[in-house]
Amino acid sequence: MTNILSIATDPASARRTAVATLDRGELVAIPTETVYGLAADATNGAAVARIFEAKGRPRFNPLICHMADLAMAERHVAFDPVSRKLAERFWPGPLTLVLPIKPDSTIAALATAGLDTLAVRVPAGFAGGLIASLDRPLAAPSANTSGKLSPTRAEHVADDLGGRVSLILDGGPCSVGLESTIVKVEESGLTLLRPGGLCAEEIEAATGTTLRRRKAGSAIEAPGMMASHYAPAARVRVEAVRVAPGEALVNFGGQRIPGAESACVIHDLSATGDLVEAAAALFDTLKRADSAGASVIAVAPIPTTGLGEAINNRLSRAAAPRDSGSSTQTAHWTT
Ligand code: TXA
Ligand code: MG
Repeated sequence: MTNILSIATDPASARRTAVATLDRGELVAIPTETVYGLAADATNGAAVARIFEAKGRPRFNPLICHMADLAMAERHVAFDPVSRKLAERFWPGPLTLVLPIKPDSTIAALATAGLDTLAVRVPAGFAGGLIASLDRPLAAPSANTSGKLSPTRAEHVADDLGGRVSLILDGGPCSVGLESTIVKVEESGLTLLRPGGLCAEEIEAATGTTLRRRKAGSAIEAPGMMASHYAPAARVRVEAVRVAPGEALVNFGGQRIPGAESACVIHDLSATGDLVEAAAALFDTLKRADSAGASVIAVAPIPTTGLGEAINNRLSRAAAPRDSGSSTQTAHWTT
């Protein structure tokens, strides 16, 4: 049985119920500013194992551990001046830092997949307060079945994982709508492991350095970065400059796309061409286009600047061939 609680109705009671559920080693779906997370007490190995089971994750990929604040993060990972600067500047927020794990960290080995690094972030809003109340980090991947689109509303979680999670906290739609940006910080520099809700340009401006980008098709660095199906049921066609009859159209900025009049449904991610609005709407829009029943979702071209980098990354993954899970394809993330 899945219990769904609205945070707005009674935040204090929602938090108490969530803390008690997490204390028992059960799973709670929580809203964050990026996407809904499927959370478990990161220090409880059995609880973390339930995350993999509920998601149907084929492998034990490392999970992001969510902290209440920088002080909690410092108990588990080693910061250098650059990572501390990034944390102070962008936390709470959609930035995940991959840092060396401390030998005395109490994070369950299953959450790190045995790596000597740990991915950490401090989420904004209700989630941060919940972690502070629990007083332990929360391991949380996106709250979706492995390979499906990330949820940006409580209803998405209920539709996908209802029955497999004890509690869903409904905090309304996520404000960012894309998963966090993941940056690995090493002495040799910063590497962008996953573009996301914080623009790479902002990180570069804050550090005065250029982020190394992982080349398409390059060796997979984290166990979670495998070729994967990250997609709606319909086939996704990106950079669409025309629409065939019966296709669903996902537009951006009200572009005139020939054939649009014969689309079975049209959604615009942002009629005004605002990439922030488009990011927040992306997953929900793909789900709605999918439920229109078209076999193809045609997506209009979207700029690659700012948040457009992350939006195009998710779209190209959704559009990737689905016939193989082989790691020789362009790297994707099973998330
Ligand atoms: O916005 C987000 O990041 C959401 C919300 C819930 O916080 N979480 C999320 O988690 O997207 P997940 O598990 O779906 O994606 C985590 C990614 C995976 O691709 C995983 O391989 C990578 O982070 N990762 C985790 N630990 C890592 C590590 N130590 N080194 C490199 N990559 C790591
Ligand atoms: Mg995910």
